[in-house]
Amino acid sequence: MRESAVHAEKCENLLEIQDLHVQYNTDDAVVHALNGFSLTVNRGQKIGLVGETGAGKTTCALSILRLLPDKVGQITSGSITYDGEDLLHAPTAYMLSLRGTKVSMIFQDPMTSLNPIITVGDQILEVLDLHYPDMSKEEKEKRVDEILSLVGIPPSRKNEFPHQFSGGMKQRIVIAMALIAEPELLLADEPTTALDVTIQAQILELMKELKSKFNTAVVLITHDLGVVAEFCDDVAVVYAGEVIESGSVEAVFAREKNHPYTEGLFNCLPDLSSTAPRLIPIPGFMADPTNLPEGCSFADRCPYCRSICRSEKPQMHVWGGHGIKCHLFGQKEVE
Ligand SMILES: Nc1ncnc2c1ncn2[C@@H]1O[C@H](COP(=O)(O)OP(=O)(O)OP(=O)(O)O)[C@@H](O)[C@H]1O
Ligand code: SF4
Ligand SMILES: [Mg+2]
Repeated sequence: MRESAVHAEKCENLLEIQDLHVQYNTDDAVVHALNGFSLTVNRGQKIGLVGETGAGKTTCALSILRLLPDKVGQITSGSITYDGEDLLHAPTAYMLSLRGTKVSMIFQDPMTSLNPIITVGDQILEVLDLHYPDMSKEEKEKRVDEILSLVGIPPSRKNEFPHQFSGGMKQRIVIAMALIAEPELLLADEPTTALDVTIQAQILELMKELKSKFNTAVVLITHDLGVVAEFCDDVAVVYAGEVIESGSVEAVFAREKNHPYTEGLFNCLPDLSSTAPRLIPIPGFMADPTNLPEGCSFADRCPYCRSICRSEKPQMHVWGGHGIKCHLFGQKEVE
């Protein structure tokens, strides 16, 4: 009984990243961007990847699609499995069929995804040409018009070039390109950061619609805990290339048990119901990824740091679906 339940749960796993290590080999140094990064995404799950700048969020998304910069970006160990397929050893043809159809990415900078000399309509059409070669021209045109309307761009503007659109509109065009093939998994790298709050709400609504229509799983990369609370089922907090806390939004946001870094993130949030005179920022900076410490990478900034934290890497301690990688939560507390 128990075994079959575990098996059923396994089949739901769409993406599984295990103990991934990624580095960038630059002329000056080796940048250790991901250091034992693990994450599981189930079908239809909406998971928020939160962490400060340089934590490794984009590197994680690029690794899944094997789009790390050639020669510089290197996966040194670990595994990435998508729907049972080992992505690190999959043939290039499989990766080409995966990108854009099964897994789509909304890139952090919309201009990296748009070709300045091709009209936006033709760029969206190209996605359909590539993935649906048998679809008729009329059907493709109709789909382009529909997706443009869905993201709030009048289809009459499809013959214009990227520079004729505002930043927020360009972002919505990129989102249209990512959604048109109805992917199983959407990697959305800061999709709403450049947008004003009303458009941001519309885009989140659009991604929710996609989830309910096609059971699309979404990995939403963001700095914004408010967006995570609003949109996601689960959250993974990333620090110095590792997931240091993960769990349901309810468990993590309950603030009963958190990693000291997550606690620091919450203390930086304004709370209108609180009488505290000021916000408490997290002191210092993230550990230098070219020279990571032997023990916990948060040690220099942590108010609870003890001697063991300097010498030993903490393990992930798990309660049900809630995990925290920190020495404060020792064996005795694990249920
Ligand atoms: N092409 C590259 N060459 C060298 N180092 C890189 C390269 N791309 C990223 N890095 C480094 O890898 C680390 C992780 O970067 P990444 O872009 O994944 O972070 P991020 O969490 O997405 O940050 P942000 O929130 O600012 O987008 C950083 O230290 C960054 O400087
Ligand atoms: S392991 Fe130690 S230094 Fe790291 S977060 Fe926990 S208490 Fe702080
Ligand atoms: Mg990034």
